[in-house]
Amino acid sequence: MQTFIENLPKAELHLHIEGTFEPELMFEIAQRNEIDLPFEDVEALRKAYDFSRLQDFLDIYYQGMNVLREEQDFYDLTWAYLTRIHKQNVLHTEIFFDPQGHTDRGIPFETALNGIYNALQDGQKQLGISFGVIMCFLRHLDEDAAMATLEQALAHKDKIIGVGLDSSEMGHPPEKFTNVFARAKAEGFHIVAHAGEEGPPEYVRQALDVLHVERIDHGNRALEDEALTQRIVESGMALTVCPLSNLKLCVVDDLKNHPIKKMLKAGLKATINSDDPAYFGGYMNENFGQLAEAVGLTRDEIATLARNGFEATFLPKDQQQALVAKLDAYLATA
Ligand code: HPA
Ligand code: ZN
Repeated sequence: MQTFIENLPKAELHLHIEGTFEPELMFEIAQRNEIDLPFEDVEALRKAYDFSRLQDFLDIYYQGMNVLREEQDFYDLTWAYLTRIHKQNVLHTEIFFDPQGHTDRGIPFETALNGIYNALQDGQKQLGISFGVIMCFLRHLDEDAAMATLEQALAHKDKIIGVGLDSSEMGHPPEKFTNVFARAKAEGFHIVAHAGEEGPPEYVRQALDVLHVERIDHGNRALEDEALTQRIVESGMALTVCPLSNLKLCVVDDLKNHPIKKMLKAGLKATINSDDPAYFGGYMNENFGQLAEAVGLTRDEIATLARNGFEATFLPKDQQQALVAKLDAYLATA
């Protein structure tokens, strides 16, 4: 099954580019920028990746991104991610970035965006990986700050396809961002939001009713509410599920207890993604592979998850169908 997964054409729809920052590259860029990391070496840093909740991870994640200063740093980070997923047969990726994690440190919005975007363009040309960029608002900050970030993005509509919502979920419900999401939608951005990772089903309901999301990032806790689950099934909306993230952040106590089969049986359009692979122990193949092993996914279930990934992209229909055709061609021979 592992070989089947490795060669399977895949799309990734829930990936924070700052969460792909491998310790080796972090130390290299820290040295280049003459920044002292509060860790002795790569091994000591990796040892700190022991989380019992989302906030434990976020504290280290924001500390890590502090090393990114120059456009080249953002380029190198993104290029490293692309070369990894190229080896994993990821054909399309829609990545998140956290502009406020950079602008709040005095790094210009354009420094981050251009570094990331230039690498993605080179990835498309040299590796054949198509892409989209989604910028996320940090939900622990206020709506005015999100609005100021959206205004900065308006000059870059050619590079940014959507807006999302991430960071500390509890105490920061989607409705806190009603106005900024309404404005983003009116400006033509696609809309997604993290909901139901740690937050209750009510936050998922708000993401649907108040933010008008087109995909739900995580969404695990929607399962606690049958009517809500049914509604999501009927809408055909995708959930971007992140198995190793769920394990590392204790959203599930054991990968064996991951609700992926329950999601598929309920008829939810679940997809598999890596979230913050440098911190959670694996990229797409590791997420598919370890989940398949833990819950005993069948070949058909794995194929469905990959198909859902392509069908849930924000690509135009013809490009989506071209990717699904590649998946079908693979399934016919594998
Ligand atoms: N959840 C919320 N915020 C995040 C995450 C996540 O999984 N990764 C990076 N920021
Ligand atoms: Zn995430």
